[in-house]
Amino acid sequence: MLPSFEATVTPPDSVQVVGRLVATDLTSMTTGEEVPTHLAELRGFTGKVGETLVLALDSGIEILVGSGPRDSFGSLEARRAAASLVRARGKASTVAIDLRGVAAGDLPTERLVQVIVEGAGGAAYRFDRYKSREPESVLESVQVAVDEGALDDARRGIERGSAIAGAVSWSRDLSNRVPGDVTPTVLAEEAAAVAERGAVTIDIWDEEKITAERLGGLLGVARGSAEPPRLVRMTYEPDEATALPDSSGRVPTVVLVGKGITFDSGGLSLKTPDGMIGMKMDMSGAADVIATVGACRALGVGVRVVAIAPITENMPGGRAIKPGDVLKTRNGKTIEVLNTDAEGRLVLADGLALAAELEPDVIVDIATLTGPCIVALGMKVAGLMGNDSHAVGAVEEAARRAGEPVWRLPLPREYAKDFESQIADMKNTGKPRQGGALIAGLILEEFVADRPWAHLDVAGPSDSDEERYEIRKGGTGFGVRTLLEFVQEFRPIGDTGVRMADHIGVG
Ligand code: BES
Ligand code: MN
Ligand code: ZN
Repeated sequence: MLPSFEATVTPPDSVQVVGRLVATDLTSMTTGEEVPTHLAELRGFTGKVGETLVLALDSGIEILVGSGPRDSFGSLEARRAAASLVRARGKASTVAIDLRGVAAGDLPTERLVQVIVEGAGGAAYRFDRYKSREPESVLESVQVAVDEGALDDARRGIERGSAIAGAVSWSRDLSNRVPGDVTPTVLAEEAAAVAERGAVTIDIWDEEKITAERLGGLLGVARGSAEPPRLVRMTYEPDEATALPDSSGRVPTVVLVGKGITFDSGGLSLKTPDGMIGMKMDMSGAADVIATVGACRALGVGVRVVAIAPITENMPGGRAIKPGDVLKTRNGKTIEVLNTDAEGRLVLADGLALAAELEPDVIVDIATLTGPCIVALGMKVAGLMGNDSHAVGAVEEAARRAGEPVWRLPLPREYAKDFESQIADMKNTGKPRQGGALIAGLILEEFVADRPWAHLDVAGPSDSDEERYEIRKGGTGFGVRTLLEFVQEFRPIGDTGVRMADHIGVG
């Protein structure tokens, strides 16, 4: 549950804690007044983002919240400052943050308040579904104080920020819930609840339908599991007032595809005990796209957004696919499965093929796809690949606005040889220890039928082993904010635009 947010003109007396933004020159972002410098010095408070200083005044508890250099204060700083305030509040259940006079230029009130809500909502997130004791301190309400003329803008910012933070929290919950609880059937049911709340349509395909639709990759992975697979497809259709048709009157379509492995044991190519820990979050991509499409109506998104999530467990049961088996996927291409632990690309093959059949303007997939992406970029940065400069650039820009770090990786066509199969169209692995994230990307590309496409490998940042700003230990919902920025801003390149490949090399 998110705290409730409310816009006011002055921080009300009733709140337990008031947060005040302070720049690195140790003056208030609101009034320009100098803070008690001797005290700041004593406590090592320099006004950097992430720092806080608790003051006990006659009027109550105030928390000075570092905001960084005054002239570089933007969305990222505001989001993190709000998160730091929530963390520093102790057990207070009510908090106010004074934003009077802070909005300016690139950071108008609506946007400022939106990111404050994202940061505060994220830091207030807790996951106590399996705790028998009542939680000790819940943040119930946050007041944002803004200039009188900006109240309406602030209220809009609260609405947008709450929709975004709510979507992120939902995705975090699904990643944090355990694999015995979130089976494919349950994840599909939860998606149906999201569809209802978010006023979007949903189709759920069961095993019979998945077979009839020839999703051989998904069926292959599901064979080793006692739990039946699901395929979820959700569609947001903008209403006439919000739709943004292109010059020919057509409303663009964005398809989001998410990897939904509710537990990845590796299958017969079994993971080690350590390697298996945490693999309940291998459905984060699916949760991200479901959460995203569910928030589109609240955000007034102007394009059609479809979410496709192939969902199954990857288990080594008696009927499991065996290393060496060949699967036939939705688009007719065959894959020799040499490592059953490279299962994400098998289920995404079908998801991407279905996406391409809709002939969308762009496809974006998101997946906890490869360990090698973690080796390359660590736990805080997602890998971004794709076949189209405009699509990849748009995702990169959306991620920047969302404050979610991504970095481009290449799709070198020279490496296509590495996954050639003797007996099928391709195999599902490349060479050991050589560019595993890129090979996975190149394999996915085989299924997008040359549609503009971008791929986010979020194996690292979907899960956090540390607490920082709006991120808490466990599932992060990484990607939801990026995807929501993306669907809000994406415009097709149009007839006059020149499509540029985003590859290196020939082949
Ligand atoms: N779900 C894993 C990737 C992963 C690893 C995500 C660690 C998060 C943390 C994926 O299905 C996988 O097992 N990939 C293999 C690919 C390999 C067999 C080609 C990997 O990363 O080793
Ligand atoms: Mn795997
Ligand atoms: Zn996996």
